[in-house]
Amino acid sequence: MTRRKLIAGNWKMNGDLAALAEIDAIAAAAEAYRQVDVAIGVPATLIAPAAARVPGFAIGAEDVHPEDSGAFTGCVSAGMVREAGASFAIVGHSERRGGYAETDAEVKGKAEALLRHGLNGILCIGETAEQRDAGDAVAVVTGQLRGSMPLGAGSGWLSIAYEPIWAIGTGRTPTVADAAAIHGAIRATLVELLGADAQAMRILYGGSVTGDNAAALLSAGDVDGALVGGASLTAAKFVPIIVAAA
Ligand code: G3H
Repeated sequence: MTRRKLIAGNWKMNGDLAALAEIDAIAAAAEAYRQVDVAIGVPATLIAPAAARVPGFAIGAEDVHPEDSGAFTGCVSAGMVREAGASFAIVGHSERRGGYAETDAEVKGKAEALLRHGLNGILCIGETAEQRDAGDAVAVVTGQLRGSMPLGAGSGWLSIAYEPIWAIGTGRTPTVADAAAIHGAIRATLVELLGADAQAMRILYGGSVTGDNAAALLSAGDVDGALVGGASLTAAKFVPIIVAAA
């Protein structure tokens, strides 16, 4: 089945109002390459100004709380980010799973919150270097998928992002063959979990994607796009990745 490529940025804790000028150029490139879906996740404070600046372009949140409201100091809910102008959110990023001890069950609750509020989602999974070296990469990521995937919810609203932790911000990436193998294992698990719906779900690759390596990584079987950190911060680095996907 043919799946449209999705190139999504994740600004992490970077950017300010002045930096939103980069999104103008990124949105213009998205307009020029309409065969590719393009989206940018930004810090919560930038969602509203970014969404107001580029109407129709997909601006998203980098995390949400599983609950809709309550005594959760410092957190934001899916409804809040939607009201601010987000059309999607990232959940389960390894910097949340690792840095804040988020469990698969919590990530699943976050994804369910997105669904309740009509947001699209990018659900991240990925193994550490130690797990990979021990030969456990497939078991780890398919286990994360089984634990954090909302079931019975269709597939169009959600993408999976496979992000090996050892590749994030390091300049290291899997080979095309390795990426194809693990994305294939993720697809097989999705088929088990979702049946025929699994074929429509995009599986993104994330970890040190650049304009130089994007075309090769995107050529791998079952690699349906990219989740990009550092190279999403400027149009000069991000637009070539969109072009590579076109
Ligand atoms: O969410 C994005 C990933 O963590 C990848 O980050 O492209 O800077 O390696 P990176």
